[in-house]
Amino acid sequence: MKWDHLIKNGKIVTPEATYGAHVYIKGGKIAAISQELLEGEAKKTTDAEGLHILPGLIDTHVHSRDGGSTYKEDFFHSTKAAAAGGITTIFEMPNTNPPVNNAENFQAQLENLSAKAHVDFGMWGICLGDLNIGDLEDLNDAGVIGFKYFWGYAVDKNNYRLIYDYKEGMEDVIPPSDDGGVYRMMEAVAKTGKTFAIHAENSDLINHLTNEMKETGKSDYATVLAGRPSLAEEMTIQAGIAMAKQTGTRLHVLHVSSKEGTEAIKLAQEQGYPITAETCPHYLFLTNEDYETIGPSMKVYPLVKYQEDQDRLWQGIEDGTFSLVCSDHAPHTQEEKQGDLWSVPAGMCGVESLAPLMLNAVSEGRISLQQVAALLSENPAKQFGVYPQKGSLQPGSDADFTIVDMDKQMTIKRENLHSKSKVTAYDGFQIKGVPVATIVRGTTVMKDGEILTGPVGTLVKPL
Ligand code: DOR
Repeated sequence: MKWDHLIKNGKIVTPEATYGAHVYIKGGKIAAISQELLEGEAKKTTDAEGLHILPGLIDTHVHSRDGGSTYKEDFFHSTKAAAAGGITTIFEMPNTNPPVNNAENFQAQLENLSAKAHVDFGMWGICLGDLNIGDLEDLNDAGVIGFKYFWGYAVDKNNYRLIYDYKEGMEDVIPPSDDGGVYRMMEAVAKTGKTFAIHAENSDLINHLTNEMKETGKSDYATVLAGRPSLAEEMTIQAGIAMAKQTGTRLHVLHVSSKEGTEAIKLAQEQGYPITAETCPHYLFLTNEDYETIGPSMKVYPLVKYQEDQDRLWQGIEDGTFSLVCSDHAPHTQEEKQGDLWSVPAGMCGVESLAPLMLNAVSEGRISLQQVAALLSENPAKQFGVYPQKGSLQPGSDADFTIVDMDKQMTIKRENLHSKSKVTAYDGFQIKGVPVATIVRGTTVMKDGEILTGPVGTLVKPL
């Protein structure tokens, strides 16, 4: 047998072009992509007539909570959800317990995740200020995809858990780094050449405004949003940009939610600084007005903002301000997500609905399928140094594919999600354009919504 798998008659989609071709897989790699049928038998043949074949989609922002809060989610479930949703690689966030804060914990976490991975994965490392600034070089050598910094968040001394609503005087808590500490961390990350990715919300501003808003006794969405406004995002983005200009750090702004944030990033990019940014489906498909029907399950940090913000984010997709779109998959249990809006935790499932929502945007004419190939595959692969192993439809690249049926329709249903905690803002959303197969290094892990394999995923490191 010359080929392991022939996928014939599909339409290949890359950021540059869409064309009919046959895909030949051998030894987990792309052996050939040809408009003519090639000689030689294949062990397995799949007819992809009427389907589009994209380079395997990557979700760069996933919190699987493994270890630490595995009652909410774990890597077995999150990667199953990824496979079900057409994602072939995820980048796992490092704020676990223990966190991915040094080379030793990187190795321990790698072993933990490897046993459960249904798709391939990269691993973020965490920056904890003075606590691990001396470990960043080793963490880089271990193979992290980049470094994440939760700007303004405190850290629990006992278990390194992040504390979102830090107040002065809290016991056993390491307060957030001051600006000098952040500056030194950025210098240290600049030396590695990797990305310094920030959660950008100014906690001083948020604490002050939130206290004021809480005193009103109201807990409607507008009041909570007034305590956590776009200004908080803009201020931290501006500070990050100023420090990146000084240090030469490759700054990446995570989950951008606001018009002001987008404009600050765009300006810095136009000035030639290596600043990248992402946004997420919740900011592209929801606004404050959806809170009335969806309720607290749509609470995420940064909060979903107004229609004018959503419009500016779409413009940012169009003009290239955003190099990628990712889920910020961050499940909490259904019980935790019920109650007073001030106190419910922020975050929801996202990895399984990311591709369907973006494909639906294609069906609605908002973006092209080629843009999806760029935003969810080629761009993240290039940005995080795993291209052309990932994100590419060239011979020699990993045989990762997301096959989609743009005529197929589905309804996102909470109970059908593969995550442990099934909390989504998109319950009942009608989708046109559905991933029908997920292929990871030649292995079909999902076909027609069914998960076909156990954990086959392995670590991907920057090349
Ligand atoms: O909504 C959010 N939830 N935003 C974050 O940045 C963190 C996440 C979480 O881990 O729950």
